Amino acid sequence: MLDIQKIRADFPILSQKVNGKPLVYFDNGATSQKPQVVIDAIARYYQEINANIHRGVHTLSQLATDAYEASRHTIQHHINAKNAYEVIFTSGTTHGINAVANGFAALLKAGDEVLVSALEHHSNIVPWQMLCERTGAVLKVIPMNDKGELIQAEYDKLLSPKTKIVTVNHISNALGTINPVKEMIAKAHQVGAAVLIDGAQATPHLKPDVQDLDCDFYVFSGHKICGPTGIGILYGKETWLRKLPPYQGGGEMIATVTFEKTTYADLPHKFEAGTPNIAGGIVLGTAVDYLNEVGFDNIAKYEHELLEYATQKLLEIEGLQIFGTAEAKTSVISFNINGIHPYDIGTIIDKLGIAVRTGHHCAQPIMDYFNIPGTIRASFAFYNTKEEIDVMVEAIKKAKMMLS
Ligand code: ALA
Repeated sequence: MLDIQKIRADFPILSQKVNGKPLVYFDNGATSQKPQVVIDAIARYYQEINANIHRGVHTLSQLATDAYEASRHTIQHHINAKNAYEVIFTSGTTHGINAVANGFAALLKAGDEVLVSALEHHSNIVPWQMLCERTGAVLKVIPMNDKGELIQAEYDKLLSPKTKIVTVNHISNALGTINPVKEMIAKAHQVGAAVLIDGAQATPHLKPDVQDLDCDFYVFSGHKICGPTGIGILYGKETWLRKLPPYQGGGEMIATVTFEKTTYADLPHKFEAGTPNIAGGIVLGTAVDYLNEVGFDNIAKYEHELLEYATQKLLEIEGLQIFGTAEAKTSVISFNINGIHPYDIGTIIDKLGIAVRTGHHCAQPIMDYFNIPGTIRASFAFYNTKEEIDVMVEAIKKAKMMLS
């Protein structure tokens, strides 16, 4: 059992007032709040060991390098990667996806197929479209049903020896659907396709096991898991990371450079050109340690309670429709009320201290599917409470009265 009040005390921002009202932060799908240990670790890095890594013989550089590499090991164990050098620091999920999509340009030919799903965030659509434009490969889409679940029978039909890579999110940011990625990965492997899993929305809620999933790539962002912005992870199986060309050229990713030829550094450095987000990398380890202390089983169980409670309370509001009713769903609720524009509700409830996301959630194809401009999205974290859900429900009722 989680002691929610104790957990909330770890997050200084949660005791703030916004617009004169206690903050109710339900925009965790966009970014998570940060516990004091993470905030302190950022300050400690700059106060005590700030130096560039992998470069200097001096003591600070060594301390910073050790802390950065220790964090890589923390992430390796967290996601159960076989080797630490399969864990690449990136600036976030978008960077990780672009690095892989860019690398595949060297491996694809016209007529090859790239499979994305209907549930993707723009960041897991656009890089693949760009790849297809460059190579003449064809983008195919795994369709979804009205509940927001991917239609597995259609996926089976789309897979063929032409499929070179399948890219799908572990959890949908807009609807909260948890996709059966392990089964989808196994099916893709049967036709020899690689699989990238976008774990941006899954990693706040569960601990991925990349070896058990058997995914070829798994990407996620630090800021959604209580870490800083501007840091993320690209996990790749060693064989794939060796096969793909580097994404960016520059310092740190080379073995030797002459004007005639450059040879690349070994993994993971081949994919880490330039001075990275050192503080972010180090502190991501702190964030992961914090979450593991809270415990992902506890997090999943408690967030599921919040999801069920909020779903039931929201559905009591007349005219409210929830989009995304998958059997397997995480603590994200997307909804609209009777043709009222989501932005109007979001603006009114913000005045009452409640933070939700409104709009298309960077997933326009999903909104097109439902023929709506967008939704109001409440996304819950383990530090939220049922009392906060009550406050939101009352605020929505008020907003509805004002707007109808
Ligand atoms: N991808 C983030 C969201 O869903 C920003 O809100």
